[in-house]
Amino acid sequence: MNIILLGPPGAGKGTQAKRLVDERGMIQLSTGDMLREARTSGTEMGKKVAAVMDAGNLVTDEIVIGLIEERLEGDNGAGFIFDGFPRTLAQADALGELLAAHGAKLDHVIEMQVDDDALVARITGRFTCADCGEVYHDVTRPLPADGKCVNCGSTEMKRRADDNEESLKTRLMAYYKQTSPLIGYYYAKGNLKSVDGLASMDEVGASIAAILDQG
Ligand code: AP5
Repeated sequence: MNIILLGPPGAGKGTQAKRLVDERGMIQLSTGDMLREARTSGTEMGKKVAAVMDAGNLVTDEIVIGLIEERLEGDNGAGFIFDGFPRTLAQADALGELLAAHGAKLDHVIEMQVDDDALVARITGRFTCADCGEVYHDVTRPLPADGKCVNCGSTEMKRRADDNEESLKTRLMAYYKQTSPLIGYYYAKGNLKSVDGLASMDEVGASIAAILDQG
């Protein structure tokens, strides 16, 4: 089963994708994570995307479509979770073509509905484990008292360079201008489902599970 988690920055896409990886063995394809990896690798592409990402703008379609194309070869039968991809109509068209070329299809596009005020608090409070990428939040998901990651035990944490109010304004603008038209695009194709992204992490997870269990 192949699904897209669609929503603005901080909607909870990464949090829910990681749950689906753990619970269902699906493969998370996060273009944000791939681009962050690329920028630390020192490659030409990494250097080009770093400034674009830090400012909160979108990286070119050509680059992100290429990243996804490479990863589709690694299908494990449990399906892909597209997290943060597609983000433009051109990317959505390309994904449809790539899946068709692999004899696959999109099963569900899950829109995570949230409001902008909640996003500011979520983004500015977010940090992750530097070793395994487990996602935390200063208020809603702090580290346990021993200060160790619940997943891998590391004490090294990090915050993203674009997780500040200034970049978030640009990221939200990019979402509304370039990505939100995908809601109508997938509605017209008949695979759009919506969940309340403001509910607790467990409740959001249960809503997504209910959609996936319908088949
Ligand atoms: P990307 O990494 O995709 O970032 P994003 O879309 O801005 O989304 P986030 O990762 O910020 O949020 P999320 O929805 O995953 O939320 P999370 O689960 O972490 O993209 C970064 C940049 O890369 C882009 O700006 C662009 O430059 C580039 N890029 C990436 N893909 C691209 C593409 N396809 N095309 C072009 N450019 C691309 O949750 C956030 C916080 O909230 C966490 O602290 C979490 O603990 C907390 N939280 C989560 N759920 C809940 C809940 N239900 N209740 C309370 N707190 C919650």
